[in-house]
Amino acid sequence: MFLSSATAVAWAAEDARGRSLVQNEQPSGYDEPLRPQFHFTAKKNWLNDPNGLVSYDGEYHLFFQHNPEKPDWGPMHWGHAVSTDLVHWKELPIALYPDELGTCWSGSGIVDRANTSGLKSGDEDPILLFYTAAAGEKPASQCLAYSNDRGRTFTKYSANPILPHIVATNRDPKVIWHEPTKRWVMALFKDGNTYALFSSTDLKSWTHLHDLEFPGCGECPDLFELPVDDNPKHRKWVFVGGDGSYLLGSFDGKEFNRESGPHRADYGTNYYATQTFSNIPERDGRRIQMAWMRGGTYPGMPFNQQMNFPTELSLRTFPAGIRLCRVPVREIASLYGKEQSWKNETVTPGTNLLEGLKGELYDIQAEFDLGDVEELRLELRGQAISYRPAGGKLTCVGQTCDLKPIEGRLKLRALVDRTSLEVYADDGRAVFSFCFLPAAGEPRYELSAHGGSVKVVSFRAVELKSSWR
Ligand code: FRU
Repeated sequence: MFLSSATAVAWAAEDARGRSLVQNEQPSGYDEPLRPQFHFTAKKNWLNDPNGLVSYDGEYHLFFQHNPEKPDWGPMHWGHAVSTDLVHWKELPIALYPDELGTCWSGSGIVDRANTSGLKSGDEDPILLFYTAAAGEKPASQCLAYSNDRGRTFTKYSANPILPHIVATNRDPKVIWHEPTKRWVMALFKDGNTYALFSSTDLKSWTHLHDLEFPGCGECPDLFELPVDDNPKHRKWVFVGGDGSYLLGSFDGKEFNRESGPHRADYGTNYYATQTFSNIPERDGRRIQMAWMRGGTYPGMPFNQQMNFPTELSLRTFPAGIRLCRVPVREIASLYGKEQSWKNETVTPGTNLLEGLKGELYDIQAEFDLGDVEELRLELRGQAISYRPAGGKLTCVGQTCDLKPIEGRLKLRALVDRTSLEVYADDGRAVFSFCFLPAAGEPRYELSAHGGSVKVVSFRAVELKSSWR
């Protein structure tokens, strides 16, 4: 196994007004053998869903379901981390603690720029968090907390809950701003496969709009609009369920009308409870998503569970219809180290182009001209990827999706960390997220062709530095 020494380096950035952000010395100790090196983990103990994702004044806030006492799920708090680039995170003190209404389950965050809530008390715009008070003596309800100091401290709203119990363990409020109707909208999971939408003008009192069914899905809703094929005049609304699958349709501020879906968003085994950031500045304009890589195991580690690497979402048109695509955010380049690359190489049976790769962490970007090959095989740290162009089947770590070659070609991108592999095929048309336990010994990489040869149009393997140092 690969062990590196603990070093602590100060890293800093400035906000739009020249104030320094996240200046504290990054603590060492994020280098245990199974500690992800560029995926977020809690310094200690359990995490699950990303919560309250919001951008404010040059900082991204990542809150997360957290049990600060044990490396297992338990009484939920909201852990908190900030970043100026979505790559380097600094864990801050816990933002929300359980109270007499219950423990703090999942939810979302927004910046109330126009102070519609009336909760602003200083020069900063208030950041509002919406969460579920659950697992208490009372049935689950939706609550509000706010910060007037750039998310450094949060106060629970005195008249909580803002939305009393409706049914079962109703939960996971996702609040968005709907510009055309100038109202706030909340998507809420009710029970089974049912979600509900509510609207509000002050973020404190909410009116029921309608219920919607999401076949096969529950928990953690998200709702946002995206242009199709980068055309600002052609837009669709996306309603996302707990496992990341999504419905496409229209939304007029009152009713979400499903036009297609559910569509699967990930073909791997470790992708759950997705959420996108609120208040990304317009000049940036990206829709950025994070997810919990549910189900990874980290024996002997002081932490448990990791987030995925943040991705940028887009809608693109394919022969089967419009689909959501997902690629890693470009900021990953801040971790780039040594690069090895190949162009126009032919891979024939019996050769391994990647014999020289020895690194532990990689961003790999490749394009193949598939020629007459029966099967193209890649092995990244022991995790097998196989593509069979004839049947149009891409298999990663035993999970398969249909993916026909485009003009005889296949593009693959892979992020390799100590305990996870994320594979993005054809610019994010199909994504696979996996956690794995690395085998002992030097990391192994292999690229081989079977039953014919493949032309490597380009293959770029960039070693990544740890985001914790
Ligand atoms: C999803 C979920 C949410 C809930 C939270 C509790 O993983 O079950 O529905 O709010 O986790 O930790």
